[in-house]
Amino acid sequence: MENKTVYLNGDYLPLNEAKVSVLDRGFLFGDGVYEVIPAYSGKLFHLQDHLLRLENSLAGIRLANPHSREQWQAILQPLLSGVGDEYIYLQITRGTAAKRDHAFPADVPPTVFAMGSPIAPFAGRDTGVKAITLDDKRWALCNIKAITLLGNILHRQAAVDQDAAEALLVKDGIVTEGAASNVFVVIDGVLLTPPKSNQILPGITRDVIVELAAKNGIACHETSFSLTDMQSASEIWVTSSTREIIPVVELDGNAVGDGKPGPVFHAMNAIYQAYKQSLM
Ligand code: PDD
Repeated sequence: MENKTVYLNGDYLPLNEAKVSVLDRGFLFGDGVYEVIPAYSGKLFHLQDHLLRLENSLAGIRLANPHSREQWQAILQPLLSGVGDEYIYLQITRGTAAKRDHAFPADVPPTVFAMGSPIAPFAGRDTGVKAITLDDKRWALCNIKAITLLGNILHRQAAVDQDAAEALLVKDGIVTEGAASNVFVVIDGVLLTPPKSNQILPGITRDVIVELAAKNGIACHETSFSLTDMQSASEIWVTSSTREIIPVVELDGNAVGDGKPGPVFHAMNAIYQAYKQSLM
């Protein structure tokens, strides 16, 4: 195991010395929230947006935010090497109580853990990837970035088992998001992505794409679409902080469009990469 420096509860220490109790509520209950924040050449990407989402996630599980935005930045920055594309994983749990009890413990400090890692280039961005569709079996608070990810994990593994990179989830016939990504489709030349609701994570990459589309004259609507609509799309993309924009070229064994990354993807990816560069 690579013995990099990580952050745990106020200390920077080697990864193999970072330990939490087996009574930590993250371990016992999955009682916590997290963030994944990309950084390019040492600059945290849209940090304020990630910290706002963190504030919303913490409020959503009724856990007090232990730090101000300035403190978060000061904690996270030293975890970056400053070289290339990296990401911070940040997790906050409801801490370690004296005994296992579902209800919140009183006066227990949260457990705060953070580490930085390089982002390896993802070959699927050039070639496109396969995806499958699945019934969205997750809970009703998907807007909270909770560490309780069993639903997402089972959906993603079902995709991997079928040699696909992502599972696109469908609730009552309506497309929600990917197991670990948001989704965009191009139908009749117009870019569509599901609107924010409690059924999807409000992805930061998604927000950036919607904003860049508006600035660059690419028609884009935040609107619901069905599985049948998605099956007729000329392009499908999945988006996330660690993979950015990935074209889906095969859905449930059928080619999407002509089976290659499409023109709207190429245009948006170029805009996105130029935007990234402009912030470095
Ligand atoms: N996941 N939806 C879900 C369910 C996700 O898990 C993610 C990201 C996204 C995209 O959000 P963003 O653009 O802010 O990364 C949407 C991260 C990368 C993860 O769990 O590792």
